[in-house]
Amino acid sequence: MTFEKCFLLMLLSLALFQCKDEPLQVVEPQIIPKPQEQTILEGQFVLDSKVGLQFEDAFQVSADFLRGFVESDTLIQLKSENAKRTIAFIKDETIKPEGYHLNISENSIEIKASSDAGTFYAVQSLRQLLPVSFENGTFQEPKVAIQCLTIQDEPRFAYRGMHLDVCRHMFSVEFVKKYIDALAMLKMNTFHWHLTDDQGWRIEIKRYPKLQSLAAYRNGTIVGHHPGTANDNQKHGGFYTQDEVKEVVSYAAKKQVTIIPEIEMPGHASAAIAAYPFLSCFPNKPTEIPNGMASQASVVQQEAGQIKLVQETWGVFDDIFCAGKDSTFVFLENVLDEVVGLFPSKYIHIGGDEAPKKHWEQCPNCQKRMKELGLKNEHELQSYFVTRIEKYLNAKGKQIIGWDEILEGGLAPNATVMSWRGESGAMEATEQQHQVILTPNDFCYFDHYQSKDTDKEPLAIGGFTPLEEVYNYNPVSKEMSKEQANYVLGAQGNVWTEYITTPEHVEYMVFPRIFAMSEIDWTLTEKKNYQDFKGRTENFFKRLKAMNVNYANHLTEKYD
Ligand code: ACM
Ligand code: ZN
Repeated sequence: MTFEKCFLLMLLSLALFQCKDEPLQVVEPQIIPKPQEQTILEGQFVLDSKVGLQFEDAFQVSADFLRGFVESDTLIQLKSENAKRTIAFIKDETIKPEGYHLNISENSIEIKASSDAGTFYAVQSLRQLLPVSFENGTFQEPKVAIQCLTIQDEPRFAYRGMHLDVCRHMFSVEFVKKYIDALAMLKMNTFHWHLTDDQGWRIEIKRYPKLQSLAAYRNGTIVGHHPGTANDNQKHGGFYTQDEVKEVVSYAAKKQVTIIPEIEMPGHASAAIAAYPFLSCFPNKPTEIPNGMASQASVVQQEAGQIKLVQETWGVFDDIFCAGKDSTFVFLENVLDEVVGLFPSKYIHIGGDEAPKKHWEQCPNCQKRMKELGLKNEHELQSYFVTRIEKYLNAKGKQIIGWDEILEGGLAPNATVMSWRGESGAMEATEQQHQVILTPNDFCYFDHYQSKDTDKEPLAIGGFTPLEEVYNYNPVSKEMSKEQANYVLGAQGNVWTEYITTPEHVEYMVFPRIFAMSEIDWTLTEKKNYQDFKGRTENFFKRLKAMNVNYANHLTEKYD
């Protein structure tokens, strides 16, 4: 051995010797959403390749997640047997369905739950007790210390949701999966996938190929804030194939996330009507792109006789599904047959919002239907529409969710209401003993500005919904009786994408407001504290960076 080699070896031994004595760094517990009960204990659990992973088959999915998280691109490989120290998943039927106990001592990590959802959430908490470098595989030490503690945790609400509009702008399967990952990390269990709207139809329906060839694309998009300054004349669109939908649904299931698809009716139907004009009350009436904002291609198309267009501007449009023709219902039932086959979710969202009644008032078929059924007005016709669809879906074992407009003209017997125009929809629906999900726009619309300094922000639809306002929202309003409160399933953050064109921009609008939403849905009100949350949010930014997730930081901004 040369002198140099010998010297190097000496240095290396010295370094190793020193490492042994140095206390390992430990991550301070700052979990989001905040657990209901957490007690910090003395000591640390050392996680290294001598640790074993023990679990029953029922917990395979969460155990796999943990193994993947700990082992990917790191030096640590967990043993399957003959380990002195273990991470053990233990079945405990006394714990509520999504709840868990996490006990970290020097010799073991015990994860107790009655279901795989519970163990999965324990793993998500444990994940946040590991250095952020595990998030991107840059942790390259042979061991890591985890703070000893006990957590007893369970969610406040059964429905913990986030929505994404993929119609106004299309987002890739890859990004949708990344979005689902974020939900799962924050113990949110529902992804509301807004799949159809005026500006694009995004789900493959094999029976109706023009939904793919025509309804999935628009010829252009307005430039700037509505009404816009011009049309960009860029074709925009795309759709998810049924294979892709299945892949996303199964991906989400492994992360304890249920996907609720939204197929909008009777309004926001321009894209479907562009493909199949018979769905309109007036198939021969050209689509209007208001304010002279039509793209050049659409002008040419209409001159050539293709008069129905996928919308190119934002807003609410008169051309809705005709409620008078049975062919409309045949179409929608055929569409829903395929949708039901793709999504195991108990719920299908059927939209119901922002459906102007102007065409129905003028349509002979709609008026005939009203007369035959003795309906007093067009709101009652909408109620007939929604109830007919509900009946069809109930017979297939599904329940419907609709935006709060479905209250107008009478609620369908089994419908769940998503209250977005404030909370009045939730008040009314719970009085009628219907279940509700709270998404009031003042608190839960993440397409709103999150800073007062709008000049420095990317263009948004408007509004002002800062982090603190989201955080302090309580889905059970003071006006609700105890009986009404029982019908509140939970709350959801909505992300409409008229002005959001890229994944990075979605993330900027969503993070950190999704943290606040996760805590609204998970943590009991009396355990919440904005100052404490703010600290945990700031700490979490490092993790987001490691995960390559974009975020907004207005934590120091002061408001009057
Ligand atoms: C909605 O924001 N139109 C539900
Ligand atoms: Zn009609």
